Order: sequence, then C-alpha cells, then structure tokens
Amino acid sequence: MANLCVGVIGCGNMGGAILKGLAATGKYSLYGWTRTMKRLDPLLEKGVEAAQDANDLVSKSSVIILGVKPYQIEDVIGSLDKDLLSGKILVSIAAGTSLKTLKKAADNCCTVVRCMPNTPAMVSRGVFALCFDKKAGDREKKCVEGIFADLGLCVELAEEQFTPFSALIGAGPAYVFDLMEGLVMAGVTLGFSHAQSRSMVTELFAGCAKMAAENPAEHLMAMRDNVCSPAGLTIAGVNAMNEDGLSAKLGKAVLKANKRGREMED
Ligand SMILES: NC(=O)c1ccc[n+]([C@@H]2O[C@H](COP(=O)([O-])OP(=O)(O)OC[C@H]3O[C@@H](n4cnc5c(N)ncnc54)[C@H](OP(=O)(O)O)[C@@H]3O)[C@@H](O)[C@H]2O)c1
Repeated sequence: MANLCVGVIGCGNMGGAILKGLAATGKYSLYGWTRTMKRLDPLLEKGVEAAQDANDLVSKSSVIILGVKPYQIEDVIGSLDKDLLSGKILVSIAAGTSLKTLKKAADNCCTVVRCMPNTPAMVSRGVFALCFDKKAGDREKKCVEGIFADLGLCVELAEEQFTPFSALIGAGPAYVFDLMEGLVMAGVTLGFSHAQSRSMVTELFAGCAKMAAENPAEHLMAMRDNVCSPAGLTIAGVNAMNEDGLSAKLGKAVLKANKRGREMED
C-alpha cells in the first residue's frame, strides 16, 4: 500500500518537529514548504522532500498541516489554490484560531481540523487536542488521529474545551519545568552538582510519569502514600510542601491560565 502523503507548510519549531517525528516512523511520504527553505535542510536528510512552493505541496499531499503563526494563517490559507485543496484534509496547529475562521479562509472546500499540540511534541511525546469540522468522516478522522498518535497522545475534544486544554496541557510544560527547576535547585542546595541534580530530577519525573501511565487505576495519592513511612523522612517533606499549599497553587495557576485564554479566544 502506498504511504500516506503529508505536507507541512511552515516548518519552524513545531512544524519542523512534526515532520521530524513523522519521518522517524518511516510510514509517510513527507513534504515541506517554509518561508526560509534553509530551515528544511536537516529534515531533507531524514527523507522529507522540499516542495517547490505551497501549492506544489498541496498538490502532492493528502493531509496538509499548517505550522505558521496564528496571525499568518488566514493569509497562507487564502494563498492556496482551492481546486488543489478541494477534498483534502487541512490541519491547523495555530493557537486560538477557530474552525470557523479556518473554514472561511479555505472557502469550505476541504475538511478542516483544529489541532493543539504541546511542546513535548518536539520529542514525539506530545499531547494533541483535535477538533474536527462536521464534514469530517470516520476515515478522515482515523487518518488524522493516526498521524498525531505517531507523535504522542491524541484526544478528540469539543472546540470549547480547547482553552481549558491549553490552560492545563498546552501551558503544562511551563508548570512542570518550574517544578523540576525547584527540585534541581534543592538538590544543589544539598550539595549535588547542578548536572547531577538535573539528571536525577529528570529521571525522577520520567519514572513517576511511567508509573502513573502503567497503573491508571491506582490513585495518585495512594502512590504518594506508599512512599511515606510513618514518622519518616518523606512524610516530613510532604507535610512541609502542603503547608505551602502546592496542589492548591497548581489548581489556581491552571484556572488563571484558563481565564486568560477565554479572554483571548478567536
Ligand atoms: N511552539 C509551541 O509551543 C506551540 C504550541 C502550540 C501551538 N503552536 C502553534 O504552532 C505554530 C507554529 O509555532 P512555532 O513556535 O513553531 O513558530 P515558528 O518556529 O516561528 O514557525 C513558523 C514557521 O512558519 C514559517 N512561515 C511564516 N510565514 C510563512 C509562509 N507564508 N509560508 C510558509 N512558511 C511560513 C516561518 O518561516 P521563517 O523561518 O522564515 O520565520 C517559520 O519557520 C503557531 O501557530 C503556534 O500557535 C506552537
């Protein structure tokens, strides 16, 4: 069976990472078009083909992913030949750009999908929210879900859930890196080198994430309590952490981000 042809217009940080992750699977014929074509060089070595221009990419691809900035999205879609685009799948990863705006820019000639990734997509461990145009059939949904499932976890959401998703998961890496940094510096305070502390803390997060993923039925608090022996060192640390209300602070941060996201909706 022929490979699915996927093209990315706008191959910067996120568009480039999507191409790189898909290239590693060996399952796709991949095309890239971006304003500064030199940025494609490392991807060409991985088997991505450079398109002649955006419409050449559209003509070669069944699924077209737009990786340009939100303020550029309507102009880029507007510049695409609608006859070439007709009947294809157009996926936008632009933050805050609604399906309605995307469909209007595309003159409703193709199936439009809104996708919100987070930065671990850059190492093929992203979480991707997907929202499909009503026009999308099961075959098209499966096709897009298959592409993003090769780069991490896919969740289909109603469009009104995109802002809460952004507040929790899109912004999530910022919360997690802040927590990691706090622990790394605590390690340095206790006498570990920065490099030692960072690598140990990184593995701590990776290991805990794996335990949580492999035991979805086990409550996270039960996993925490398993580490706390009576009158021991861990419970002393956990008690001190909770005096400062860390969980409450995280909850507050996500709600604040959601409120700001609602103010910014398209
Ligand atoms: N980065 C994230 O964490 C993140 C998370 C969620 C969603 N997103 C979304 O992902 C999109 C891309 O973000 P990014 O961080 O990857 O930005 P980026 O690194 O600036 O990538 C955008 C790319 O688009 C290219 N471009 C601009 N105009 C173009 C045109 N007319 N035709 C073809 N290519 C064009 C740019 O070219 P130049 O190289 O010449 O500038 C650049 O390479 C945004 O819409 C953003 O909302 C990003």
